[in-house]
Amino acid sequence: MTPGVRPFVAGNWKMNGLSASLGEIEAMRRAADAGEAGEAELAVCPPATLLAQAAWKIRGGKLSLGAQDCHPEPSGAFTGDISAPMLKDAGATYVIVGHSERRTLHHETDALVRAKAEAALKAGLTAIVCVGETKEERQAGDAIAVVTRQLKGSLPPGGGPDSVVVSYEPVWAIGTGLTPTPKDVTEMHGAIRTLLGEIYGPGGSKLRILYGGSVKPGNCRDLLTLDNVDGALIGGASLKAAEFLAIAAAYR
Ligand code: 13P
Repeated sequence: MTPGVRPFVAGNWKMNGLSASLGEIEAMRRAADAGEAGEAELAVCPPATLLAQAAWKIRGGKLSLGAQDCHPEPSGAFTGDISAPMLKDAGATYVIVGHSERRTLHHETDALVRAKAEAALKAGLTAIVCVGETKEERQAGDAIAVVTRQLKGSLPPGGGPDSVVVSYEPVWAIGTGLTPTPKDVTEMHGAIRTLLGEIYGPGGSKLRILYGGSVKPGNCRDLLTLDNVDGALIGGASLKAAEFLAIAAAYR
């Protein structure tokens, strides 16, 4: 945790969820409104098809809503894509950009991720910028160099604590049940904090740095209370409100 920084626990539903899953979002909202996550802010990022309905369910409450990707342009002939102003219009306040699944499966580069993050800021959304090394890169001792390069290439200029969140998600920890050691997480988040200061100046000390990758109720306390870990981006364990809230309870 970082003194003076409000923790942030967000669920990334990826390509999961039909309208039948809206009950989970309602349960998350009730818990957020009841303060069950202590001082932490809670957010859920369902697929784009559920955003408008979810926005209706959470209106006037304390649960925040995010999307999982956006196009760099505000509108135009881009069949199948969704722009940042559209997400904002649907009720999102956050958008994930640069998730490793998009970097890998859709060949997204740092430059594209930065363009998406800039589009998010321009639309009034907060960008959750994801970075993380592969297993091979960690084994080669390059993890910090890789993440540094990704951040330098992906972070939007002019960002600050209210408009940018960084999520460190080692690719090899996503959906595998594997996690880095607390020492490795502390080392990486410390390096990210230093870099954020270089890029954003004093505001960099207050940006939230999340950890993502196999966060579960059983390991959340060990990971989420480390220095410079200001919350989590949770995949599989965020699909059920009970599991998601058990993780957020690390901040109670
Ligand atoms: P899991 O929590 O399922 O490992 O996914 C993490 C993730 O990709 C969050 O964006």
